[in-house]
Amino acid sequence: MADLTRPLFPEAGQTLTAANKSDDTLRLLAARRSTLAKNMTGPGPGEAELETLIGIAARTPDHGKLFPWRFIVFEGDARGRFSAILETRFRELEPEAPPERLALERTRFERAPVVIAVISDVTENHKIPEWEQVLSAGAACQNLLIAANAMGFAAQWLTEWYAYDRKVKQALGLAPGERVAGFVYIGQAAIAPTERPRKPPRINRWR
Ligand SMILES: Cc1cc2nc3c(=O)[nH]c(=O)nc-3n(C[C@H](O)[C@H](O)[C@H](O)COP(=O)(O)O)c2cc1C
Repeated sequence: MADLTRPLFPEAGQTLTAANKSDDTLRLLAARRSTLAKNMTGPGPGEAELETLIGIAARTPDHGKLFPWRFIVFEGDARGRFSAILETRFRELEPEAPPERLALERTRFERAPVVIAVISDVTENHKIPEWEQVLSAGAACQNLLIAANAMGFAAQWLTEWYAYDRKVKQALGLAPGERVAGFVYIGQAAIAPTERPRKPPRINRWR
């Protein structure tokens, strides 16, 4: 687990090193893989760890200092209560859904000990384009994944059907215009991930 006794976050105005050479960071990034939520188990991050993880997620680049994201944490029995809402809504959408599917909806958020919803909250009609504000929310999700891995947790960034459902968004308490950038599931890997096939990155030289 992370050493949370060291102060991690700098004060505003503090001089910082421009780069932090770290083989460990490079290795983590080069070999990062998501762990499927269904392959997760506990324990998840505790209170202090969660605070650190979200603090790191919120240090994402943000053009115009708009802080265009917020976080909703699901842990303990809140996960079951939210999953019950998902099941009810799914029954409404798919009255013929088989019992196995309903059982999945009923336990969706219980696949991991902690789920963090990253909410994209854009300021409309602002000189900072909406696109950039949305990208910043995506960067917050990615920071969260990497920080969770570095703290010793498995993680996966999901949206699934419920990120886009009007009634689920209401149940999440989203304001009109707010969107789910991702549900980041965090726990321990009960089954280790294996590398997946990846296409080489498309790179061109502009000449
Ligand atoms: C915005 C976003 C939403 C995603 N939603 C889903 C999803 O709903 N279901 C899913 O199986 N994977 C989803 N993924 C993909 C996984 O998080 C993961 O990236 C993918 O399985 C590839 O694994 P890797 O992260 O180890 O490369 C999403 C990724 C992003 C960036």
